[in-house]
Amino acid sequence: MQKLEVFGANKLKGQIKISGSKNASLPILAATLLSNKKITLKNLPKVRDIETMLSLLKSLGSKIKLSKNGTIIENSNQNKKFASYSLVKTMRAGILVLGPLLSKHKSAKVSLPGGCAIGTRPVDIHLKALSKLGVEYKIDHGYVIANAPKGLEGNKIKFPKISVGATENLIIAASFAKGTTILSNCAIEPEIKDLVNFLNKMGCNIKWISKRKIKIFGVKKVKEISYPVMFDRIEAGTYLIAAAVTKGNLKITNIIPEIIKTEINLLKKLGSKIIIKKNELQILGNKKIKNTKIKTAPYPGFPTDLQAQIMVLLCKANKNSVIREDIFENRFMHVAELNRMGAKILTNGNKAIVEGNINFAPAELMATDLRASVSLILAALTAKGKSIINRIYHLDRGYENIEKKLKKVGAKIRRIN
Ligand code: UD1
Repeated sequence: MQKLEVFGANKLKGQIKISGSKNASLPILAATLLSNKKITLKNLPKVRDIETMLSLLKSLGSKIKLSKNGTIIENSNQNKKFASYSLVKTMRAGILVLGPLLSKHKSAKVSLPGGCAIGTRPVDIHLKALSKLGVEYKIDHGYVIANAPKGLEGNKIKFPKISVGATENLIIAASFAKGTTILSNCAIEPEIKDLVNFLNKMGCNIKWISKRKIKIFGVKKVKEISYPVMFDRIEAGTYLIAAAVTKGNLKITNIIPEIIKTEINLLKKLGSKIIIKKNELQILGNKKIKNTKIKTAPYPGFPTDLQAQIMVLLCKANKNSVIREDIFENRFMHVAELNRMGAKILTNGNKAIVEGNINFAPAELMATDLRASVSLILAALTAKGKSIINRIYHLDRGYENIEKKLKKVGAKIRRIN
């Protein structure tokens, strides 16, 4: 099994180009199932979750080709309607094919994604909302077996809780439903806006009518398009934190700074100097890092997907900090590993008290999920000596060329078998 070897402690200096967004690409790829015209997607990141989604689409009958201009996806009117456990189990976003399959073909059998390390992660909100569009479903042997005998029909749906995935599944499903759908209490993550832009460009008719409300007029036909997926804001945030924690100086390019202003403002408050330009920014880490209180929240709040990374930075603050994880019930698995490196983090339920002024010591470590893995790299970059990070397949799910990108800016990092 592959491992990462990291030698700290170097300041990171140079330029990092941010890749396309994994979390925007996944729902957009699922939404291509609605079409029977050629779609070219640009800027898809080269990460395992995208490979898994492409395999899932192929298993459903999509024809996929890689070309100079991007990934070309072609669907006919005849998809298969079965998404197997073997493909959905490793990637929760597999459930996003349920909406488009039901919308286009009136029936589907899709494996439940199951739990994962960061919590139980049910799909009840997706299923209840789909039933309001006329879907009948049952759960059988770990599969959702769903039918919409009369086809999907528009309705008014208020999500009981903000969910990124459920909002995406319903936007995609309602785009081809008969009549009009109004979704309220929607997630408004930039990746959802990207999905809506993609669908509208393809010929769908979706309008934001207020901050968390969307009106979708069902359409019957779509057209051939080419679409560039947005940048990965979590990857951008991770490298910003890498610069801050190593007291380095990084230029982060291929981004829209406005989209990550919560993260930029927080890092400024903690002491970094940030110079914002049109599609890039420069961050200079400060010797002194201030402490703070943070809670994770749906966008535009602080993202849960950066909670593990910011915790590493707060271990270096001048005083104690508090982090409250309000999205997932079990997202502190990185804490035990960080404490093995000398951190002093105490958790109580969804709260973590993070002691400041820590010098991380190198160690052999175990990655437990995607974002936890990267937080261990950040800590190892500041620890003087050799750290080894095991189980890095988690990392390969969502970070494109991470060792290459870090090596280019001065990190001593390599992959070993
Ligand atoms: C997406 C992101 C993930 C991010 C998360 C929150 C993708 C592929 N993944 O995950 O990286 O961490 O948003 O920003 O984009 N919930 C239910 N029932 C449901 C659905 C969700 O109880 O049917 C709960 C979840 O367990 C969680 C909360 O709602 O506690 C938010 O989850 P959700 O926004 O749906 O996250 P995902 O779409 O799975």
